[in-house]
Amino acid sequence: MTHSATRRTVLLATGATALTAGCGGGDGDGDDGDRKSASPTATGGGELARTDEIPVGGGKVFKDRKVVVTQPEKGDFKAFSAICTHQGCTVAEVAGGTINCACHGSRFALADGAVRKGPATEPLPVERITVEDGSVRLT
Ligand code: FES
Repeated sequence: MTHSATRRTVLLATGATALTAGCGGGDGDGDDGDRKSASPTATGGGELARTDEIPVGGGKVFKDRKVVVTQPEKGDFKAFSAICTHQGCTVAEVAGGTINCACHGSRFALADGAVRKGPATEPLPVERITVEDGSVRLT
């Protein structure tokens, strides 16, 4: 019993190795694979923005990170999920004093992500950040 389990494990491991080697073999595919594997590392808690990128009374959407950072008052930075709580679009922009979703027109407050205008009914979830030396980082 132990023998067959071991043999099966070896076969599975060998199969996985063969698949990996097959993927890396193509010239174009190999490059894409490198870029994809680099991306999660870049999003792993590094700097999100410089504080001077975030306007006072406004904010900025980081679509690739699915985060929106706002500065409702000078020196007061907030971050929220950029995924609209209505149907999951990524919010489009921060303008006119609110975080705005272009899909169906929901608007959220800069200070706490609360719904200012529907159809969304739930606030944007808060994302934890640290602000240090002019740098905004996700925690
Ligand atoms: S998904 Fe944002 S308003 Fe509908």
